[in-house]
Amino acid sequence: MDIKISPSMLASDYANLEAELKKCSDGGADLIHLDVMDGHFVPNISIGAPVIAAMKKVCNVPFDVHLMISDPYFYADDFIKAGADIITFHTECDSDINATISKIIDGGCKAALAVKPATPIEAVYPYLDRLSMVLVMTVEPGFGGQSFMESTMPKIKALREKCPDIDIQVDGGINLDTVKIAGQAGANVFVAGSAVFKSENPAETIALLKANAKL
Ligand code: DX5
Ligand code: ZN
Repeated sequence: MDIKISPSMLASDYANLEAELKKCSDGGADLIHLDVMDGHFVPNISIGAPVIAAMKKVCNVPFDVHLMISDPYFYADDFIKAGADIITFHTECDSDINATISKIIDGGCKAALAVKPATPIEAVYPYLDRLSMVLVMTVEPGFGGQSFMESTMPKIKALREKCPDIDIQVDGGINLDTVKIAGQAGANVFVAGSAVFKSENPAETIALLKANAKL
């Protein structure tokens, strides 16, 4: 499987988004991870479609939009128009999952489903044939800078056995050490916020994450 690194802009300097995006594109990031929080599905509020549309104008790396919102069906069009390439939403949301996947795919984007740490991986199984990626959260969604939950690894192993070719993403607490654990379990797409943006050399960190994911 291709290893992909997706820096989470949640940990970047929101006053300098163009420069922060350039650090990722110059540094060899494969995707840009954009965390959308509605203050309802998760306690926090982050950015929405207008900010993502503005970022899209100054960055050529594909946008990986992570919707931590209660009604992704209602808002999907806004994120398709904003320039999302992949749209991930949660199995625990209030929307109809099949209808939301259809809206995303019909809008020309790749659809992905996410599970929180306590949600069994079987929750995504009915939808696998229509998904490009599954996101196994390795922290409770809502905040950056939390500690990686190794207890979620059996879900990755089970999914990798079932689907040798699907992209499996991990998000939360990924650093130069935990990337190895998740990689060994079978993940191949790694979101990293604090690890990239709090490092002195984001490009070097992206390269090291990629190298360590294969160890
Ligand atoms: C958490 C977000 C993550 C977050 C990861 O709810 O989905 O994408 O930005 O941040 P780090 O890598 O700092 O744990
Ligand atoms: Zn995320």
